[in-house]
Amino acid sequence: MPENGERHLAQELRGVGLSAYDMPEWKKDAFGKTPTFGQRSKLSMQEQRESLPIYKLKKELIQAVHDNQVLVVIGETGSGKTTQMTQYLAESGYTTKGKIGCTQPRRVAAMSVAKRVAEEFGCRLGEEVGEILTDENLSQYSVIMLDEAHERTIHTDVLFGLLKKLLKRRLDLRLIVTSATLDAEKFSGYFFNCNIFTIPGRTFPVEKLYTKQPETDYLDAALITVLQIHLTEPEGDILVFLTGQEEIDSCLPVSVRENEESR
Ligand SMILES: Nc1ncnc2c1ncn2[C@@H]1O[C@H](COP(=O)(O)OP(=O)(O)O)[C@@H](O)[C@H]1O
Ligand SMILES: [Mg+2]
Repeated sequence: MPENGERHLAQELRGVGLSAYDMPEWKKDAFGKTPTFGQRSKLSMQEQRESLPIYKLKKELIQAVHDNQVLVVIGETGSGKTTQMTQYLAESGYTTKGKIGCTQPRRVAAMSVAKRVAEEFGCRLGEEVGEILTDENLSQYSVIMLDEAHERTIHTDVLFGLLKKLLKRRLDLRLIVTSATLDAEKFSGYFFNCNIFTIPGRTFPVEKLYTKQPETDYLDAALITVLQIHLTEPEGDILVFLTGQEEIDSCLPVSVRENEESR
């Protein structure tokens, strides 16, 4: 948490002009006089893939999936779990035995990662890569990856139960569960005490700042924070995580929304 005067929280900024803002001390220290932000990549798609932390563990990971019917995988956000593991499995032949399914608890995330993998893999969205349609025994699938398993909903919980039963019927089916580090043991316990595979390393530096008090309207607070960053930081991009399409829609300015709809 920042000291007084160091950072302005969204709450304090409500209804207040945004002009009086100096670069906080920690930032002057960290970035010196000529700050550079953002990492717009000049690397080719293949070089980007090879720079991810997961790349070094490709062989071990494929071996682990081969040796374990169920495997829990943990690794930092951006390490390449969602987009790379699916492609590694495809490369190592799992598509000859069936499809590779990757579930996402959020529709927006499902569409975004499907699009990215299609781009990297060089195929059209909805052909080799697309949304998951389940058949009763998942007989079309050779591998299922339960992604972001810790983001539990009633739907994913039901799916966990069904898959646990199915694993006993279909010994050839492989299940990969990716989860936050804290929940890994629990998922391993649930799925027959399966092994846990850890991907070390971060793709980007991360600094966490918390609000001092809970925000009553976090969407509003997020918007104020975005504007604050926009007005006080050098050029770059801002990424905001919201919980679903409805919130995203209400967050977008009207002009952007109309533009999207007319496309
Ligand atoms: N939609 C996208 N557009 C561009 N790059 C992306 C996209 N999604 C993922 N990436 C790149 O792929 C990397 C791995 O992402 P991802 O597989 O989603 O990681 P994880 O699932 O471990 O959080 C990211 O660090 C990013 O560089
Ligand atoms: Mg992911």
